[in-house]
Amino acid sequence: MNYAEAEKMLKKCGQEHVLAYWKKLNKKEQAALLEQIAKIEPKNLAYCQQALKAGADVPDSSKGKAPKVAVLKGKKLAEAVAAGEKELKAGKVAALLVAGGQGSRLGYEGPKGCYSIGPITGAPLFYFHARKILARTIRYGASIPFYVMTSEANNEATVKCFEENDYFGLNPDDVFFFTQGMWPGMTKDGKIILDQPGRVFMSPDGHGGLLAALKRSGALADMKKRGIKSVFFFQVDNPLVEIADPAFIGYHVLNKSEYSLKLCAKRDPYEKVGMPMEFTVKGRKQYRMVEYTEMTKEQCERKGKDGNLYFLYGSPAIHVFDRAFLDREASRPMPLHLAFKKIPYVDEKGKVVKPAEPNGYKFEKFIFDILPNAKTASFLAFDQKEEFSPVKNAEGNDSPATCKADMQAKWRKWLAAVGVTVASDLPIEIDPAYAVDAIDLAATGIALGAE
Ligand code: UD1
Repeated sequence: MNYAEAEKMLKKCGQEHVLAYWKKLNKKEQAALLEQIAKIEPKNLAYCQQALKAGADVPDSSKGKAPKVAVLKGKKLAEAVAAGEKELKAGKVAALLVAGGQGSRLGYEGPKGCYSIGPITGAPLFYFHARKILARTIRYGASIPFYVMTSEANNEATVKCFEENDYFGLNPDDVFFFTQGMWPGMTKDGKIILDQPGRVFMSPDGHGGLLAALKRSGALADMKKRGIKSVFFFQVDNPLVEIADPAFIGYHVLNKSEYSLKLCAKRDPYEKVGMPMEFTVKGRKQYRMVEYTEMTKEQCERKGKDGNLYFLYGSPAIHVFDRAFLDREASRPMPLHLAFKKIPYVDEKGKVVKPAEPNGYKFEKFIFDILPNAKTASFLAFDQKEEFSPVKNAEGNDSPATCKADMQAKWRKWLAAVGVTVASDLPIEIDPAYAVDAIDLAATGIALGAE
C-alpha cells in the first residue's frame, strides 16, 4: 500500500487523522505506518464503530437457567471412551490451543506457554501440553495435529520455544502455528487512536479472533484435508487439562454435538469462571455463556433444590468443536466486547500523552460467543481437582504454587493407585509421554517396584 492508497482508504472511513504527522516521520516510520494501515480492514472499522454505538451485547442473565449437565459413569462412560478411542485411532481428532494472550496478571513477560511450571524439571506449560498430545498419538497410533494460536507479540518467541525443545518430541509437520488478528483502539467517537505519531494503537482481537485466524492462515483447510472431525480446544494456562480425552471426544461424537463443553462445580460461589446458561429465544432453546463479571450476587449465591449452588457448573474453557461447525462460523461476524482502557495517545502538538483515566476502547471477540449458533450443544461434568488448575495470578488462588500442588496431588494419586506411596513433602513430576494417566503408569511396571 502506498501513501495515496492509504489516504484514500482512510478518508473513505473518516480516519484521515491517522496520517496527520506523516511529514514528521522518517522513511522507516512511514513504511511501518503504511504496513499497519494496510492490515486494517475498512469493514472491521465500521463494525467497531457500530459496536461503540450499540454497546456490549451482554445476555440478560436474570432470564438464564442452569443447563443440564451430564455426569458419565459405568456403562455410559465406557461407551463414550470407546467412541472417543475410535475417533482417535481413525486420526479424526485435532488439538487447538489459544496462546495469544499476555501473562499480565502473572507478571510474566514472554509467551505464557514458556512459563516454567514443572515441579522438578521447571519445564514450561507448552511441554505438558505437547507431551500429552504425544502420549495420545503413541497410544492410538494416529497423529493428532496441534494448532497453536499466537499473537503478533509472542509468535516468534513461541515458535522459538518449540524449536529449541525439538517440538517436545512431536513431529513438526503436525504442529501448525498461526497468529490472531490485531484491531485498532478507538475513542468513544469511533476515531482510531495513534499511540505514537507514526503508529496506530493496536491490540489483539481476543481468543474469538481464532475463527478468522484459522481461516486466514489455512489451518481450517489443513484440518479438512487431514480428515479432522473433532477439534479439542484448550487454554494455555491449565497444565492439568486432559487433552483429547477420549471420554469427552466420545461423548461429543455420540451426541452429534457441534459444540461440547466440559464444566466443573465451582469451588466457591464467586469463582471467576464463565457460566453457560439456557435461554429461550423466540420459543427456541439457546445456550449462551455469561461471564463471571455479569453475574449478580444473588445469582452467584442462589441455591438449588438439592442445597447446592443453582449455577453450580462453570466453564474452564475446555471445549470440543465439530470441525464443520468451526468452518461455518468462521464466515460469520462475531459480537465485539468493548474494554474501556487508558490508551496512550498523541496530542495536537504531536506529543505522546499517558492518560490518567480511561480514554479509549479495545475490541475483543470471545470464542464462546458462537455457542448460541450451535445446533446441538452438550455439557459434561468433571472433577475440578483432576483437570483444572490454571496459572493466572502470581500469588494466591490460581497461581504457580496452587497449580504445582494440584499437579503433584494428581500424580500422587496415580502412584497410590499402583501401590506406590510418596511422602507428601517429596516433589514429584511425571512426563506425560511416560504416563498420561494412571492406566499408563500401571503399564510401565512401576507397581511391581521395577528395579
Ligand atoms: C477465561 C474465560 C472464562 C473461563 C476462564 C477459565 C474469557 C473472557 N473468559 O477467563 O470464561 O472461565 O478463562 O480459565 O475468555 N487469549 C488469546 N488471545 C487473546 C486473549 C486471550 O489467545 O487475545 C488466550 C490466552 O492465551 C488464554 C485464554 O485465551 O489461553 C484465556 O485468556 P485469559 O485472559 O486468561 O482469560 P480469563 O479472563 O482468565
